[in-house]
Amino acid sequence: MKLLVTGGCGFIGSNFVRFLLRERPRWRIRVLDLLTYSGNLENLADLVEQGRFDFVRGDISNPPTALTAAEGVDAIINFAAESHVDRSILDAAPFIRTNILGTQVLLDAARELGVRRFVQISTDEVYGSIDPGERFTESTPLAPNSPYSASKAAADLLVRAYVRTHGLPALVLRCSNAYGPYQFIEKLNPLMIVHAFEGKPLPIYGDGLQVRDWLHVEDVCVAVLDVLERGRAGEVYNVGGGNELPNLEVVRRLLRLTGAPESLIRFVPDRPGHDRRYAMDHSKITAELGWRPERDLHEGLRETVEWYRENPGWVESLRTGRYAEYYEKQYTARLTAASDDLLE
Ligand code: NAD
Ligand code: TYD
Repeated sequence: MKLLVTGGCGFIGSNFVRFLLRERPRWRIRVLDLLTYSGNLENLADLVEQGRFDFVRGDISNPPTALTAAEGVDAIINFAAESHVDRSILDAAPFIRTNILGTQVLLDAARELGVRRFVQISTDEVYGSIDPGERFTESTPLAPNSPYSASKAAADLLVRAYVRTHGLPALVLRCSNAYGPYQFIEKLNPLMIVHAFEGKPLPIYGDGLQVRDWLHVEDVCVAVLDVLERGRAGEVYNVGGGNELPNLEVVRRLLRLTGAPESLIRFVPDRPGHDRRYAMDHSKITAELGWRPERDLHEGLRETVEWYRENPGWVESLRTGRYAEYYEKQYTARLTAASDDLLE
């Protein structure tokens, strides 16, 4: 089996490459990654040294690049994306280019080359927000609320169209919020962990009672391999961790694990269009493929905190001028307007 993994230097992609080389050591992997701010070849440094995979630096939305990279592969897994909601609010353009145009270009490359399997990595955010007590199923209508989730929904619909129109053997895996090692420090968990270590304020948007369904990145990797090997072409599969928690509770747990005080918490002005709650029904993939989340949240968060504690150099290498610029735009005014009144 020869596989093209796009976005293999990002958070989930790099965990997947590592996982796959362990689980399917005879498979050959080519990684195509533009190495944007969130892609880091260091995430795979040991495997690069051992020559365990081919690496191509390039843009999925460039047709010749995509065609060359996909030449001779049996399957494509598309992790490559602009992935951060807050950045999509500041500037939607790169989201449209990579997430929509990039997916279309990859789908065309797959079609032209007769690739036997295409797995599109998507998100629960395409469904929008859901009321307490309910869960997203694969037939919940798409109702994205951020430019990020709108771009992911558009990509999912392109996959559907290529299945229906061209008979492309593609499928979509929609994941809830992933956590674990190698996640870029702009996302909730790593941002809070790193700030807790450093005694910096922890910015919680709005009242912090928004609910996310946390899923360990290794559980995501197992699901990707399951749908790659045994999923039905043309289908959508939801995966979630069954760990629904308000953000404030996640942050409090992280504070306990780091040993930092709750007084670091700051309630800052909310994210515009902020989805209140996500919750996944993963019964379809459980019934069809036997997948279920295996990792315990407390243990997973503890290991994640320890990974960040043990890798301060990795964190430091991400704090470039570009990151400082983003941080300034996203947080400086918010933190000035912050309140440190803890909710009871
Ligand atoms: P990430 O931002 O950590 O990684 C994205 C990777 O894509 C980076 O390596 C980046 O360099 C690469 N990339 C970006 N634009 C590219 C382009 N034009 N061409 C080639 N490579 C490009 O993101 P992640 O958290 O690992 O997410 C991976 C996928 O999973 C995304 O499609 C995301 O929408 C989806 N997803 C993520 C989560 C989550 O909680 N992290 C949840 C559900 C779905
Ligand atoms: P995030 O990690 O950006 O993932 P997503 O928006 O894709 O769910 O955010 C997770 C939750 O944490 C989301 O409800 C927004 C919230 N959040 C904060 O309260 N403060 C922050 O600084 C960040 C980055 C996120």
